Amino acid sequence: MQPSDRVMNLRQVFVTVLMFGVAGLLLFMYLQAWIEEHPTVSGEKLQQQIINQDSKLPHPEELATAPKNQSAAANLNKRQTTVIMGRHSQEQASPLGEIASSLVSRLSEQQKMTKAFLKQLKQVNLPPVMRPLNKSLIKDDRWKNIDEAQEKRRYFLYDFCKKYSSENRLRTHLVRMVSRIYVEDRHKILYCEVPKAGCSNWKRILMVLNGLASSAYSISHDAVHYGKHLKKLDSYDLKGIQTRLNTYTKTIFVRDPMERLVSAFRDKFEHPNSYYHPVFGKAIIKKYRLNAREEALKTGSGVKFKEFVWYLLDSQRPVGMDIHWEQISKLCYPCLINYDFIGKFETLEEDANYFLQLIGAPAELKFPNFKDRHSSDERTNMEVVRQYLKELSDTERQLTYDFYYLDYLMFNYTMPIV
Ligand SMILES: *[C@@H]1O[C@H](CO)[C@@H](O)[C@H](O)[C@H]1NC(C)=O
Ligand SMILES: *[C@@H]1O[C@H](CO)[C@@H](O)[C@H](O)[C@H]1NC(C)=O
Ligand SMILES: *[C@@H]1O[C@H](CO)[C@@H](O)[C@H](O)[C@H]1NC(C)=O
Repeated sequence: MQPSDRVMNLRQVFVTVLMFGVAGLLLFMYLQAWIEEHPTVSGEKLQQQIINQDSKLPHPEELATAPKNQSAAANLNKRQTTVIMGRHSQEQASPLGEIASSLVSRLSEQQKMTKAFLKQLKQVNLPPVMRPLNKSLIKDDRWKNIDEAQEKRRYFLYDFCKKYSSENRLRTHLVRMVSRIYVEDRHKILYCEVPKAGCSNWKRILMVLNGLASSAYSISHDAVHYGKHLKKLDSYDLKGIQTRLNTYTKTIFVRDPMERLVSAFRDKFEHPNSYYHPVFGKAIIKKYRLNAREEALKTGSGVKFKEFVWYLLDSQRPVGMDIHWEQISKLCYPCLINYDFIGKFETLEEDANYFLQLIGAPAELKFPNFKDRHSSDERTNMEVVRQYLKELSDTERQLTYDFYYLDYLMFNYTMPIV
């Protein structure tokens, strides 16, 4: 072989290797760009499905039970939007027209917020962990049914959350995320407060467990809420927060979203209240009531449920949100905190007493079943809720449902049929 041939061969080999290298690099860059655009394809698809359902349909469970009305349900949103639009164009100049158009913009804003929220969930990489409940203290069969319901609920939430988490951004928001969680160090409990879902009695129980009181019945409403006896999780340093999150039994008690909303409305607006009337009532009447009387504008008393809902759904609320009607998903971050125990207001006493057994509370400590404010009023149950929902139009009901969509989804609630 000639020396020049050998040089040629070497050059060819070199060029070939270089070309493969460049091609490989290009392929790599292309793939990376593609992956960034399509993080988890199936997750995205699912999310899209849910968002589509959000705008069009009632709860998937509802459809399963009433397949014949599916097309009616699917048309609901379209029809309602046109109705609103129609009303809007007729009443362009009136405040009601503005409210109607605000409701429409509210819908798309809610969808955006739901999207953003689901995206945020995807960005937090606490892969949801499901720790088994420690049942070593449960000695009898009495709790069997309650325990089964509990496990179902835990798996249900876990499955929902698993679809939406993937990457870690937790630390930045950690403190805010735990700001509604109360700490009981003796029995190692974390309790996230959801107002209007039995939280006063829960705080009483935590105070008794902590040795701050001898009986739940001896603690007044004001001592519970303004006493500052119980510590919140955000009062600890980062390490204190993380240790407790990882080792304590974390619990949340939830309630049907509409029941919670109606209950909050009745409690805050149908009884004299020196905070909610002047702060929320006044602003609500001023913005949403046509020809409001001087007296109502001055006191803020007598807000109607419909007016309250207009405020709730308004993208330009005249006053901010309040924990009593804030979504549970924003108060307690159920998909990030990984609650060990999910109680429901609908089965409050059984769930709570089972929880007390699990954590080894004194045998004589039982969850109190009293209602300490407006105790003569009928409790807000589904029948009462229906009466209130009847005051709303179909659209307003649908938008209210959309507003609490994640709460419905996470805890397997269904929209009441009015
Ligand atoms: C379907 O919905 C309509 C009203 O939207 C109602 O009158 C009818 O009874 C429903 N049908 C079934 C099968 O649920
Ligand atoms: C379960 O609880 C019991 C009693 O509180 C405790 O002794 C045991 O170590 C716990 N088991 C686990 C796995 O945490
Ligand atoms: C969800 O709710 C439906 C209807 O209330 C019920 O039949 C079903 O068992 C629930 N699923 C879980 C996992 O709790």
